[in-house]
Amino acid sequence: MPSPPTEAAPAPGLPTAGAAVLDAERPIEPPRHAEEVVVLDYGGQYSQLIARRVRECGVFSELLPHHVGVEEVRRRRPRGLILSGGPASVYADGAPRLDPALLELGIPVLGICYGMQLVARELGGDVQGAEIGEFGRSELIVRDTGRLLRGVPREQSCWMSHRDTVFAPPPGFTALASSSASPVAALESVERDVYGIQFHPEVAHTPYGQHIVTTFLEEICGCERSWSPESIVEDQVARIRAQVGDGRVICGLSGGVDSSVAALLVHRAVGEQLTCVFVDHGLMRLGEGEQVIRAFRDHFGVPLVAVDAEDRFLERLRGVSEPEAKRKAIGSEFIRVFEEEAAKLSGARYLVQGTLYSDVIESGGGTGASTIKSHHNVGGLPEDLQFELVEPLRALFKDEVRAVGAELGLPERLVWRQPFPGPGLAIRVVGGEATKERLETLRAADAILQDEIRKAGLYRKLWQSFCVLPDVRTVGVQGDERTYGNVVVLRAVTSDDAMTADWARLPYDLLEQISSRMINEIREVNRVVLDITSKPPGTIEWE
Ligand code: XMP
Repeated sequence: MPSPPTEAAPAPGLPTAGAAVLDAERPIEPPRHAEEVVVLDYGGQYSQLIARRVRECGVFSELLPHHVGVEEVRRRRPRGLILSGGPASVYADGAPRLDPALLELGIPVLGICYGMQLVARELGGDVQGAEIGEFGRSELIVRDTGRLLRGVPREQSCWMSHRDTVFAPPPGFTALASSSASPVAALESVERDVYGIQFHPEVAHTPYGQHIVTTFLEEICGCERSWSPESIVEDQVARIRAQVGDGRVICGLSGGVDSSVAALLVHRAVGEQLTCVFVDHGLMRLGEGEQVIRAFRDHFGVPLVAVDAEDRFLERLRGVSEPEAKRKAIGSEFIRVFEEEAAKLSGARYLVQGTLYSDVIESGGGTGASTIKSHHNVGGLPEDLQFELVEPLRALFKDEVRAVGAELGLPERLVWRQPFPGPGLAIRVVGGEATKERLETLRAADAILQDEIRKAGLYRKLWQSFCVLPDVRTVGVQGDERTYGNVVVLRAVTSDDAMTADWARLPYDLLEQISSRMINEIREVNRVVLDITSKPPGTIEWE
């Protein structure tokens, strides 16, 4: 469960690709007015990305596990079906199979990579394991653009990742393109309305990928661009009203983009029936608490209970230095404060949650995934709270949440806030207790870093940029005096999803400016160092 007070940073360590899971009890609710294209997930690394690319074309898309059954697909009345890539060999025992009924739905079908091999094999093409695999960039030669490749150049690069290869298309199909290792790299049968590409159109390394996806959606499926921030807002407002009626709603606001957008949607729908609860645990960055209060209470006029709980949290953190113990202490204190406030708002039946679509498409299980979840859930609310959930972001990817936030007028700073962990600065005071003094030193350093990163125009380019305060003191000399002060570590990473990350190559001049400001402006700091570890082998946070 995503959680106040976190900004729902991606669950640490989750693999990029997890087989999609269909939550039969709480399926996502596609917009009433938008057309849908279903992506069936065969476990490919980029399956989520396919759904995102479809949505970028203004067409709603849902990622469903490959075994859902044809009825689940039919029930959605999709305009088209995409079969994703996958790691298996079509010949392997237990490899996911294609239900032939999926090709008889009367809608266009596009197979990508493994998806194409499944189609080719099912319909009588020649698919074999090749001696040499094809991984990475490849040159594609288009012999016949057909319908699917209309408008793309004869020669172009594309991204491949396969070992099984289609050597001949099924009867009635045309081979459209080839590459050095793939005699048939694209195929189609307009008559059967079935299309296939061996390469990955969804990744940036296939420059004409989005063009091909657009052709499939618009020309072949005949989809209209009906999925947009405006239509999402309109649809969600109607749904929230229908769910909540004249009931009272409560929302834990963290200042992160997910809870902010969820709260604004609910407020747009039911106005003053909503009360937001903002628990300031004193572990925020500089000025963040006031920013949230200003935006929600003053600007949007959202009824807001702001709880200054800093003392309680500091008290709970006294003597706690082990990272997991810190997380637990903060998590349980958060629940206590939230429950106390909720009890004061008698009559609230509904609770807003900022669950995202990527939370819904969970990883395909396994013990790793479940431990990771519990780690991420720290700071979340217990399951037994007596509320009915309102989850207006359940169908949205993070970039869509941002677009909806902008549509609703959320200030740019909140829309584009970098992920911030629920336990806040406490887990960046490393190797010791998060005392008020140490938190203040860290907060001051962090404010300088953010300020300089923003001034350099880098804030949005970085996944995260922050400071760490280890329990280390070093000798320095300032003026004529010998000092014995704190070390601040700078951590800045680029990433797409926090699963992997690269340390950011910040310009030297910027680093110098940051370092000199920190040492000049913060009495307690006399040394600044830079973390140049990527993930893996490091993690983004230090504890
Ligand atoms: P790591 O450090 O595992 O972090 O590479 C990956 C992402 O998760 C965030 N993170 C957390 N978020 N509660 C959260 O809400 C936590 O306890 C937590 N620990 C790490 C981290 O900031 C990064 O974005």
